[in-house]
Amino acid sequence: MRIRPRRLRYGETLRKMVRETRMDVSSLIYPIFVKEGTGIMEEIPTMPGQYRYSVDTMGKKLEELLRVGVSAVMFFGIPGYKDEIGSGAYAEDGIIQKALAQAKKEYPELYRITDVCMCEYTSHGHCGVLCGQDVDNDETLKLLAKTALSHVQAGADMVAPSDMMDGRVAAIRGLLDEKGYGTIPIMSYAVKYASAFYGPFRDAAGSAPAFGDRKGYQMDYHNSREGIKEAILDVQEGADIIMVKPAMAYLDMVAKIKDTVNVPVAAYSVSGEYAMIKAGAKLGYIDEEKVICETAASAFRAGCGIYLTYFAEEVARFMQEGKIG
Ligand code: PBG
Repeated sequence: MRIRPRRLRYGETLRKMVRETRMDVSSLIYPIFVKEGTGIMEEIPTMPGQYRYSVDTMGKKLEELLRVGVSAVMFFGIPGYKDEIGSGAYAEDGIIQKALAQAKKEYPELYRITDVCMCEYTSHGHCGVLCGQDVDNDETLKLLAKTALSHVQAGADMVAPSDMMDGRVAAIRGLLDEKGYGTIPIMSYAVKYASAFYGPFRDAAGSAPAFGDRKGYQMDYHNSREGIKEAILDVQEGADIIMVKPAMAYLDMVAKIKDTVNVPVAAYSVSGEYAMIKAGAKLGYIDEEKVICETAASAFRAGCGIYLTYFAEEVARFMQEGKIG
């Protein structure tokens, strides 16, 4: 036989030599939940192994991450109070602002990214301010920009808007530039679907909408060309990195976005993906370690260069051990 594909599969050395997808720990971002209060380290029931930390306890996890080489973290805040206008999101002494200041002081080597959204801070749980039953897009833009600015002033190295309002990247870029933060990059959750895979996150952050759903701003999962439209728009508005979210059920979009825009592409393996792997492993239905490796590799194979995952520490360790990478 002249062409024999199996020839390149004999032995680990050769298999690694011809490997098409190579991953590196520097591509990983860990999402962390920081909650108002002290001495808190609460396990999230729907995300076993993941915790809500207070500012004084989060260092434990940050140190573990840094030890295995994960140096980028995405901060999510769980505030002490919520109101109609999500004022905790842009408060000078808000939870994220305090976490950033502390992280910058204690772990200057850590790269600090923040999720910019209102849903954890609004009493109604929507990703912006309301006008009747609808999120008021253009009013929300002002608050998102204000939130992003306050994150940067508190020590964020990068901001990541996840709200899906139209024009938010331009609004954030405009205000950051005006205030002298022209070099702070924006990673836009541009291709973000209305997904049931966010369920455990909403439990973790207490951010489920009090009425209705997010379909008026997040994308319909039947659509693909619309995702390309969102990505192109955000690049035109000044996004430096484009994210696809969720990851696992949307790898076609990762591949398409990679071919469409010429900025780095990130994929976010969300809470529901984490929860499914944990649950399946607990029941003994799947091998947790192998599934984590395969899932991570599939996102990179699809074309992302940046991978956000609650398994960041595990993936880093598996890379060190030569199980993937
Ligand atoms: C905020 C936000 C959400 C997630 C990231 N940022 C929830 C949502 O849109 O409802 C989900 C992350 C996850 O599920 O891991 N808007």
